[in-house]
Amino acid sequence: MESKPWPSLCGSSLYLYLYFPFICLCFHPISVLSAAGKPYTNTALASPTTPQLRFRRNGEFKILQVADMHYADGKTTLCEDVLPEQVATCSDLNTTAFLERMIRLENPDLIAFTGDNIFGFDATDAVKSLNAAFAPAITSKIPWAAILGNHDQESTLSREGVMKHIVGMKGTLSRLNPPAHIIDGFGNYNLEVGGVEGSTLQNKSVLNLYFLDSGDYSTVPFVPGYGWIKPSQQLWFQRTSYKLQGAYKNKPEAQKTPAPGLVYFHIPLPEYAMLDLSNYTGVRQEGISSASVNSGFFPTLLEAGDVKAVFTGHDHLNDFCGQLTGIHLCYAGGFGYHAYGKAGWARRARVVLATLEKTDNGSWGAVKSIRTWKRLDDNRFSVIDAQILWSKSSSGRRRKRTSNGH
Ligand SMILES: *[C@@H]1O[C@H](CO)[C@@H](O)[C@H](O)[C@H]1NC(C)=O
Ligand SMILES: *[C@@H]1O[C@H](CO)[C@@H](O)[C@H](O)[C@H]1NC(C)=O
Ligand SMILES: *[C@@H]1O[C@H](CO)[C@@H](O)[C@H](O)[C@H]1NC(C)=O
Ligand SMILES: *[C@@H]1O[C@H](CO)[C@@H](O)[C@H](O)[C@H]1NC(C)=O
Repeated sequence: MESKPWPSLCGSSLYLYLYFPFICLCFHPISVLSAAGKPYTNTALASPTTPQLRFRRNGEFKILQVADMHYADGKTTLCEDVLPEQVATCSDLNTTAFLERMIRLENPDLIAFTGDNIFGFDATDAVKSLNAAFAPAITSKIPWAAILGNHDQESTLSREGVMKHIVGMKGTLSRLNPPAHIIDGFGNYNLEVGGVEGSTLQNKSVLNLYFLDSGDYSTVPFVPGYGWIKPSQQLWFQRTSYKLQGAYKNKPEAQKTPAPGLVYFHIPLPEYAMLDLSNYTGVRQEGISSASVNSGFFPTLLEAGDVKAVFTGHDHLNDFCGQLTGIHLCYAGGFGYHAYGKAGWARRARVVLATLEKTDNGSWGAVKSIRTWKRLDDNRFSVIDAQILWSKSSSGRRRKRTSNGH
């Protein structure tokens, strides 16, 4: 029984949740040790020869993030918060048309749907709504991945049911949960992006993507508000990151610094509210709707050391991206026309582009830089707020501490 993981321990106790930041710090060394020392049955992870995705021959990999489609019944579901003259001609079909346009204009290598894919309250049949919502991704034949928001389960399927349906859809790389882990939520998985075919890093994951279920609402008595990323999920993240970093640093083609990681989930971390208000790109037009407790995922990401940016949705009127202690915290901005928004403020999506470095002999190496921008569903499909999230030269190494205080 002593090897039983701690979700059951923590899941029942408010006390432990409130004090989780401490617990989190205390358990870190143990979880890393156990990751290295125990037989680890999940061999599908960090397998050095089977990346599900890979960089293109031009050394680029592009991800389109679609947040909060809020899809319901299609043609009969009307738009929210559009201009008065747009009301009569606007429905879920505009969300579909926007997705088709985005795919055509950006031609991404992966589409990441970060929850509230459907708006369950207004969806008569969850299966039909999910099928319609993801249809443009399937038609495009571009690989896609989805995780759950807080509204996906409000129709005819449970959270587990929704995620199971998604996992069975065409073209998706979504998975229900890692095998051999006891974990909270539905839709916790990672994707590996291999180097360019034929290059020395073709068998290594040079970019790591993590997808997590940030839940819907608190289930802890007397704790109101939204869900959060649980200790069991953080433990899985730690082990996965640790394993991926080990594989990357091992022979053949041993690398010195970890491959960059990007994390996708729905509900923003409380740390989004801690960003320097004068120094982010994009807008903050509403509050940060995080959980009312902090489960410590940000320090967990910080300690893992590979994650460069976090991408969420949930707050449709916020689309900013700003850096906190070396990790960018980014919103995508609202995408769906049946989602609340702001009339006259265009629906939008976030694009991330990772670029590899050229090696001396003209081949491709590790990731050199990660950039992002947003594209709007306005008349000109404007591209705005381009920024660099990470580049190898400037952030590949930790800065030396120069102060000798305390
Ligand atoms: C929604 O789509 C219809 C049909 O293409 C179009 O006429 C209308 O302008 C669109 N509305 C918005 C708000 O984009
Ligand atoms: C990658 O793996 C394939 C298949 O196992 C192997 O043939 C190839 O030599 C490997 N390439 C590199 C650069 O490691
Ligand atoms: C603003 O943030 C960027 C990183 O996004 C950082 O490089 C820069 O130093 C910050 N500027 C200020 C004034 O804090
Ligand atoms: C290209 O250079 C890298 C080091 O930058 C080396 O590991 C690799 O073997 C070289 N590849 C070829 C095809 O010469």
